[in-house]
Amino acid sequence: IPASIRERSIVLVGLMGSGKSTIGRRLAQRLGMRFADADDEIERAAGMTISDIFARFGEAHFRDGERRVIQRLLTGKPLVLATGGGAFINDDTRALILESSLCIWLDADIPTLVDRVARRSHRPLLKDRDPGEVLRELAAVRNPIYAEAHLRVSSASTPHEHTVRAIMEAIA
Ligand code: S3P
Repeated sequence: IPASIRERSIVLVGLMGSGKSTIGRRLAQRLGMRFADADDEIERAAGMTISDIFARFGEAHFRDGERRVIQRLLTGKPLVLATGGGAFINDDTRALILESSLCIWLDADIPTLVDRVARRSHRPLLKDRDPGEVLRELAAVRNPIYAEAHLRVSSASTPHEHTVRAIMEAIA
């Protein structure tokens, strides 16, 4: 891996369950770069869970905080950053990511995504809904936008280790 790869942040985008956090952490380890998870950083900055932010202040407020947290993270030393699935869909956040990083879309089929999304406190969009239905709706709207990422790597059905290797080969 050429040293120049480490001079630019790598940002992972894609739907819930595409493996952004797990793959991002391993990729960072492999590259000797810092790793951050935007969802965790937002929860830390706000002092509450993402579900609570959605419930108390609404999604628009969350998106605004998300953009500010991502902007802060991308201003520092280069890192590998896992974003929440909706971050790249926000026009301002997407522009920021595209201009300041190497952006990779982790793409997987719906059944794979459904297998991976447990109902967790940071996924209010899945609350009381069928995850497959939500993910199909989101994929229809979002996939054309994720396609604006610099690279697309499949994270479907294979162990995450394969995806990490595919990314390493793609950026080498
Ligand atoms: C969201 C995805 C979540 C989290 C929030 C909204 C989305 O992150 O940011 O619940 O809009 O797709 P993950 O992609 O890590 O699940």
